[in-house]
Order: sequence, then C-alpha cells, then structure tokens
Amino acid sequence: MKRIGVFTSGRDAPGTNAVLRAIGRTSFEHDYEVIAFRNGMEGVVENDSFMMDRSYVSGILPIGGTILGTSLSDPYLENHNAIKEMKKIQEKLSITCFIGVGSFTTMKLCSFMKASEIPVIGIPATIDNNIPGTDYSVGFQTAVNYVSGSLDRLHSTASSHHRVFLVEVMGGQCGWIALYGGLTGGADLIIIPEKAYSIQEVVSHIRKREGEGKFFSIVVLADTAGFPNDISEQEKQQINDHNGLLQFLSLEIVKETGMETRQLILGHLQRGGSPLATDRLLGTLLGNASVECIRRGITGVLVGQINGHIEYTDLELIKAKRPVDLQLLNIARIFY
Ligand code: F6P
Repeated sequence: MKRIGVFTSGRDAPGTNAVLRAIGRTSFEHDYEVIAFRNGMEGVVENDSFMMDRSYVSGILPIGGTILGTSLSDPYLENHNAIKEMKKIQEKLSITCFIGVGSFTTMKLCSFMKASEIPVIGIPATIDNNIPGTDYSVGFQTAVNYVSGSLDRLHSTASSHHRVFLVEVMGGQCGWIALYGGLTGGADLIIIPEKAYSIQEVVSHIRKREGEGKFFSIVVLADTAGFPNDISEQEKQQINDHNGLLQFLSLEIVKETGMETRQLILGHLQRGGSPLATDRLLGTLLGNASVECIRRGITGVLVGQINGHIEYTDLELIKAKRPVDLQLLNIARIFY
C-alpha cells in the first residue's frame, strides 16, 4: 500500500484540476491512498490536509484554477525550517511520496525537497511555459488561446480607428505567451525578454506598415520585456517612478508617428477560465504518469511530455527558466 501526498503550489494554471483528478483516479485504481494538502506549500508545512476520495475529484475537469487552493512557493525555497516541517509531516502521515504541481518556483522547491531526501515528484503547471523538461506546461495552451482570441477582437477596432495597440501579456520572465499568442493572433510586432529591442525599431516598423497602407498596428509585449535599449538612464528612472513602460512606449509612438495609441493589459484573465481540451489531456497524462512513477519506485523527477512522449527529468537539473526558441521569433517576423 502506498500513500501519496499531493499539493498545488505557486500561481494557478488551468488544467491543474485535471492533474488532481488523474492522480486521484490512478491512485484509487492501485488502491493507494491520497492525502491532499490545501493552499500550496503553506498547507504542507501546517499539515492542513485531508484524505482525498473519489467524490472530491469528480466533475472537476472543466474547472479553472485549482480546487485545492494555492499560495506562492517562494517563501519556502531554501527554507530549512520549512523542510524540517515537511519531513516531520511526511513521517507522521507515512507518505510514500509527495507530488507537487505548479510553477517554476514550485519545481525548484521540489528539487530542494529532493536534495533534502524528501521523496517527491514534480508536475509542471504554469501558463508561463518556462519550465525545462517538457514541451508544454499544463495551462499554457489555454492562456495562449485567450491571448490569440483577444488579439482577434482587437483587430477590428484597431483597424477601424487606425490606432496602435500596445498589449501586455504575462510570461514569468519568458516570452512564450507573447510569442505563441502573438503568432496565432496575428500580432504586428512581438517584444519578449529574450531579445533586445529599441524604440527606433518599434517606430520604424509602424511607419513601414503605414507605408504599406496598414494604418493600425498591434504590438504584443511580455510583462517582463524590460526597457528598450535606446533610452537614457534618466528615462529609465522616469519609467520606474511614474510612467510605466506601456505609457512611455505609447508616448514615444505618438511623438514619432503621430498615430493614436491605446494600451491594454490582459492580466489575470489569461490565467482564468476553463482549460482547453489540450490542457485537460496533458494534465491527465502527467497526473497518471506521476502515480505510475511512484508505483515503479521512481521519485525525484519532473514528469513532462517531450515530442509526444512522457519523459522524466531529474529535479536537480531544473535550474533556470526555459527561454523561447528565437527561431520562432524569426518566423513570427515574416507575418509582421
Ligand atoms: O507565474 C504566472 C504569472 O502569470 C506571471 O506570468 C506573472 O508575471 C505573474 O504570474 C503575476 O501574478 P500575480 O499578480 O498573481 O502575482
């Protein structure tokens, strides 16, 4: 008999409930018990837990977020007291292995647990898609779908009014959502943290489009894109103090092109809503694979999907966030 301890931690992602359902159903299939911890790592350390049963994971596939609740993983990273507590909880509840579902920081936390000899498996679930060891993290495709749908809607109003729209999307220090959302929503320029950019480049591209008879532009910008590389230290200070990057870029575009601009922050709407079928499927497969891993006595890995196959990556190899492939940005340029 095995007893699995599951928690969802870090910022929520659609499809996480499919993971929980798969962990529950696969475990019950093997007569394993599942102890669920509420509200992320906080719930593990405080032992805010309950025994999961079939009814708990029933009817949750279409629900966004995580029914277990979550909290940021950051305070527990490299926190030796928290680790001691987790170890105590693991022993007290006779947990064979934890399964941590969540963000990049949550996977780092799982890696820290592993290094501290706590048996754990990580499942990547974040809209940011910035975790190594998987092609897609659970939730990413739903967020991208929201971004591309939003850009579809913006096109008609932007072109009717001949405006430039600056659209800020999330990304967790990476440009995956901006690039995939921009590519599939027909963005006219995509700005991501992995590639330096300049005001000059933005302005001349908008002008070029004007020259081609396109009197509107949609510029997609990742929330951590950073400053353009052709502004002064004083301007950077101004952006930090009052302006905000979107406002600053807007004013520069108006100044240089005379075009009317509007700013839009898609924000947390990108994280919300019912997961797409692709995220439900990925969540189901990764949740199932994590329990199968435990059944085979394997722990200390991240369970991902690469080229359509389930792959296991040693948690200790999850060191840095996974940047986008810049090749894809070159392809996106063809469509600007
Ligand atoms: O990690 C997911 C993410 O969506 C990032 O892309 C974003 O920067 C961040 O969360 C914002 O989250 P919150 O405002 O909830 O702290």
